Amino acid sequence: MCGIVGAIAQRNVVPILLEGLRRLEYRGYDSAGVAVVKDGKLERVRSTGRVAELFEKSVDTQGLLGIAHTRWATHGVPSIRNAHPHLSREQIAVVHNGIIENYEELRVQLTAQGYEFTSDTDTEVIAHLVHSHYALGNTLLDAVLATLGELVGAYAIGVIAADDPDHLICARKGSPLLLGVGVQEHFIASDMSALLPVTQRVIYLEEGDVAEIGLMGYRIFDSNRNLVERAIHTSELSNESVELGEYRHFMQKEIYEQPQAVANTLEAVCNSQSLIPGIFGAEAAAIFADIESVLILACGTSSHAGMVARYWIEEIAGVPCSVEIASEYRYRVSVPNPKTLVVTISQSGETADTLAALNYAKSTGMDKTLSICNVPESALIRNSKLRFLTRAGPEIGVASTKAFTTQLAALFLLTLVLAKQRGRLDHAAEQRHLHELRHLPSAIQAVLRLEPAIAKLAERFADKHNALFLGRGLHYPIAMEGALKLKEISYIHAEAYAAGELKHGPLALVDKDMPVVAVAPNDALLEKLKSNLQEVKARGGELYVFADAETRFESTEGIHVMQMPEHAGYLSPILHTIPLQLLSYYVALQKGTDVDKPRNLAKSVTVE
Ligand code: G6P
Repeated sequence: MCGIVGAIAQRNVVPILLEGLRRLEYRGYDSAGVAVVKDGKLERVRSTGRVAELFEKSVDTQGLLGIAHTRWATHGVPSIRNAHPHLSREQIAVVHNGIIENYEELRVQLTAQGYEFTSDTDTEVIAHLVHSHYALGNTLLDAVLATLGELVGAYAIGVIAADDPDHLICARKGSPLLLGVGVQEHFIASDMSALLPVTQRVIYLEEGDVAEIGLMGYRIFDSNRNLVERAIHTSELSNESVELGEYRHFMQKEIYEQPQAVANTLEAVCNSQSLIPGIFGAEAAAIFADIESVLILACGTSSHAGMVARYWIEEIAGVPCSVEIASEYRYRVSVPNPKTLVVTISQSGETADTLAALNYAKSTGMDKTLSICNVPESALIRNSKLRFLTRAGPEIGVASTKAFTTQLAALFLLTLVLAKQRGRLDHAAEQRHLHELRHLPSAIQAVLRLEPAIAKLAERFADKHNALFLGRGLHYPIAMEGALKLKEISYIHAEAYAAGELKHGPLALVDKDMPVVAVAPNDALLEKLKSNLQEVKARGGELYVFADAETRFESTEGIHVMQMPEHAGYLSPILHTIPLQLLSYYVALQKGTDVDKPRNLAKSVTVE
């Protein structure tokens, strides 16, 4: 949802800004732009292509102070005129991530004041508002502060003025922004990956913060406009973790990182002999003991992780569990139960709908909150009482892979902890599950060896326009995740059904042009699933079955069976996810789509 970078230094900042944008491109890639202060003027370069094109267009641009932006369009089509930075009367330049909700009335007001609008964006009102206050003789900081008082909505902004080469002003409310601390140079960015080439020292700005940044230092004001000190953290992110290395795409790299990502996520637990609630936070034991149910809130892939967890939590821990898509829950009148554990799941920790759903739940009196998230210091983590950090490392590919499997690992831990606390997990069962968790990374590794066979299978999908994914029980959400992956990166229309529902409608769609993918683990529902598959075969459909080793499915005319190396019991959904990720990846390769940056999508959706 748009990436922002800004810098003030004693060297040309344009290469720093553009490299930062390249690393933030996963947040949006409809257009990109940069503006610098040079000799009392603003110089701006914008492009509707990728950041690589902006690199070419700005070879002659130089400056010691600048801001840059990569866009995911909300208001106004992707075009040069809508690309950021936006200027006001060649004096003020602004980059913005978020949505200004009252932009229409501000636009009317500013037009009446004589401001001319050159874009269709909501952002341009910010530039003109800042200008209107700056023109009255205010400092740039004061002009931005006055502007913020007039804005309704969410923003992270960076602002510079043509005649003030000494200051970069930034502010955040509802969208992430951090301040990078260098030696006599300072930076801002939407996330840390953008700044790794220049600094690892970072301040996570808090909700409502405004900062005035100069070469030698910075001042931060909180939402009450008091001058505040914020802690400087040293980021643990390494440069390699955000580089492609030997891989062709980040998605491929991230699929292959799953054994390590899951091992990292489980590290604390796998090194110990028993499970304790404390892995979710100091207050977890008391909170978990006082709950009657679990409510999981999430979006996209993260919501699929929640749906798997529902099966685990009800079956293993015996705790009633419901899962809701965050964007639905936040606007629905539901019946709050203060004895509900509200679990939010998010890779980024900044998805607007998930954050709003959490806040809505809290506003109804449900304050027992746990966030499962991949980004420390994210808004979701900070707004929850309990937290569990998945340690997947940065996920750059827009289609989520390793974040999902690590979320599942974390949710299985939650299930076991709840079960143990309720006396539903004896010592032997606990040890058995711990053993299975320790084995999980190598089990994932074994599944990854199916890659060549799946690459071959993918050739059969490339010319298809539709696909059905079937699963039952724990594997129904995995079928949903498989369908989502295929949609996202290969643009093939894919639907997932609980296999038992096939006969209630989707069977009408089945013919030789409709590949049907079935997730067929060796569990209690296998025989039922086999009958569902016969229903497909009898209608001439092509079946692609991901079956466990012991299922005795065999490839025959119209049925292509891919044998999984082992059956992982409750952890089977994690293993069954991998071939579906690989399938969508190879279908996308066949189709030649932009795997890491599929059209119209963005990695972190920080707007509604
Ligand atoms: C976007 C991404 C998805 C992701 C979803 C939720 O739509 O493209 O991959 O699953 O947001 O994101 P979160 O960061 O909250 O997990």
